[in-house]
Amino acid sequence: TREHELVPHRGFTLISGTHDPDEVDQIYNLKIRDSDVFVVTYPKSGTIWMQQILLLLQAKGDLAAISQLNSYSNADLVPWIELIGSRQAFITAPSPRLRVTHLQFHLMPAALSQKKGKVIYVARNPKDVLVSYFHFHKLANMLETPKDFDDFFEKFMRGDVFGCSWFEHIKTWYSHKDDMSMLFITYEEMIQDLQSAVERISVFLGEELSAEQLASVVKHSTFSNMKKIPQANYEQVSGELLSHQQGAFMRKGTIGDWKNHFTVAQNERFDELFHREMGDIPLHFIWD
Ligand code: PPS
Repeated sequence: TREHELVPHRGFTLISGTHDPDEVDQIYNLKIRDSDVFVVTYPKSGTIWMQQILLLLQAKGDLAAISQLNSYSNADLVPWIELIGSRQAFITAPSPRLRVTHLQFHLMPAALSQKKGKVIYVARNPKDVLVSYFHFHKLANMLETPKDFDDFFEKFMRGDVFGCSWFEHIKTWYSHKDDMSMLFITYEEMIQDLQSAVERISVFLGEELSAEQLASVVKHSTFSNMKKIPQANYEQVSGELLSHQQGAFMRKGTIGDWKNHFTVAQNERFDELFHREMGDIPLHFIWD
């Protein structure tokens, strides 16, 4: 297989050169500690935001303490479990092991469904996910740059992207919500009231912080402040992985940018697909 080619694998499309199918298959059998935390997201739904929040909560709001860990990006400290080599490092890592993942439910450790470890699922309205993902394809060298927005729109509608369709991801994870120790939170809730979101996360994780410490977590995880912290905003990630001249990981950070991209016809088709797929699922999104 070519580098950076999409490779369908057991219901979840991987990226060659970035993921190893055999390694991914072994994630299912990983031993899980109660202190493990997995942030699960469909791409572009708030992953790096949550990396920053988890690190800050652990450091009781002390940003300098995180910078002293001397990493190029928060991804070194809260890595994606599915990346090559990551599973092996996880096995021997000291607690608490904080990880992020885009993996589908059936590929994640079975122990999570015995309520071992904790899962934070972050969901974002899929129209904004689509737009963010489109721009990310220009930035990320492991993903092929789409011809134009219309081309990417069709791919997203078909689920012909890294991973699986947005609908499959959220429906499957949401249906297993009560089997595991899971906090389900949305990107939009975080945008609208970051303070409450951070409080919910800290309570869920059993992190005890003073009001001042919590305020500091909130302060250092706003869009404008993260934009200024290279370790948090991925500016320092190697040019081999990200073409920094093509954009930024932290692009806009808003609700409703889809309105600047979707045509009326695309919006109608999207709504139709959304209702067909999500019909009786009691999830409500904030679209603007
Ligand atoms: S990835 O590649 O899946 O890990 O990307 P992910 O981090 O999940 O999503 C990137 C989008 O999240 C936005 N972001 C934020 N929004 C608001 N506040 C904060 N602090 C924040 N941090 C990251 C980021 O800007 C991407 O969204 P868009 O819409 O492209 O701006």
